[in-house]
Amino acid sequence: MASTLQPQSVGMIIREKDPVNLESPFDQVDSYLTPTELFYIRSHFTAPKLELGSYELRIDGAVRNPFSLRYDELRAMSSETRVATLECAGNSRVFLTPQVAGAQWELGAVGNAEWTGVPLAALLARAGLEKDACEIVLEGADWGAPKEPPVPPGPIPYARSLPRDKATRPEVLIAYQMNGRDLPVDHGYPVRAIVPGHYGMASVKWLTHVHVVREPFRGYWQTSDYAYWAELDGKPVRSPLGAMKPKSEIARPRVYETLTPDRIYTISGAAWSGETEVTEVAVSTDGGRTWAEADFLDPVRRYAWRRWKLDWLTPDKPGRYTLLARAKDATGSIQPAEHDKQYGSYAIDHTLPIEVFVEATRG
Ligand code: MTE
Repeated sequence: MASTLQPQSVGMIIREKDPVNLESPFDQVDSYLTPTELFYIRSHFTAPKLELGSYELRIDGAVRNPFSLRYDELRAMSSETRVATLECAGNSRVFLTPQVAGAQWELGAVGNAEWTGVPLAALLARAGLEKDACEIVLEGADWGAPKEPPVPPGPIPYARSLPRDKATRPEVLIAYQMNGRDLPVDHGYPVRAIVPGHYGMASVKWLTHVHVVREPFRGYWQTSDYAYWAELDGKPVRSPLGAMKPKSEIARPRVYETLTPDRIYTISGAAWSGETEVTEVAVSTDGGRTWAEADFLDPVRRYAWRRWKLDWLTPDKPGRYTLLARAKDATGSIQPAEHDKQYGSYAIDHTLPIEVFVEATRG
């Protein structure tokens, strides 16, 4: 007899129906590795349907030996498995005031997974980079008309470049597995790039083309979108986003959760950083006046998040309290109190206020 019991799943939050954009319920994610079914999905266009039998990865441009690789050939190469945190550059956008355009991500456009694949460096070594090769453009098989102006005149594929230095580092993978299983369609089946340390936009899904270029790539997702105003000789210049900034998020309590007075409540969350490690997380329960150091649950592992916790004796006094968590990384970089306007609606790395209520004791 078929059981009427449903398997337990906490589900996802819809940010956009088509293309599929789903947010993780961050307060429900308490494992080191985010389960694949709870890992956020950020796609600009409908996921392309790629067949294993006809799949090919083309590597060409400023290389001595351009070549194409079939899926089975990629799988036959020596592989590596690495844990890496992906955070969408627009994660936590809902915390910006006044409100800005774009998907209103809360805390859950971030996840930590184990990725298996072939180092991009191995493929580039086989192709033989020309001396003047400067960037590596990763192109997906998904196409469409982007939304945010200024938009190009016709449909374009999703493409993003990496500086040569980063692309040839051992951590950058051409991945085909996530958490020990073949990639699901929405996460880039059959093959995607994983660029540990960089915001999620660099980890191109449905990867079919690796194009080596001699000049910096100035494509849409490099200049219009996923870019910020850097400063060059005192003047603002549009530059592509790259490494993630150190960030910590509170998973529990949730916004506007009501807590019992004079009880130990374990505040918990996760923290990550780009090209270095998170070394400290401090938590404030009084809106940033005082801070206490949290304990890490996970060891230092570059490119992977570290969960943390802090036991808080909730106040006797009923009322509203603002909690903040602040990460510091190995370079001494610390989360700011305010969003940096040069980054527009991206790289939201300031300490995010979580307001909670402590209830009055029932007499
Ligand atoms: N790759 C392609 N081909 N198309 C996309 O729309 N979105 C990027 C990146 N790779 C995207 C892509 C963005 S913005 C992010 S944050 C990550 O994929 C999200 O990866 P995920 O959906 O597996 O979480």
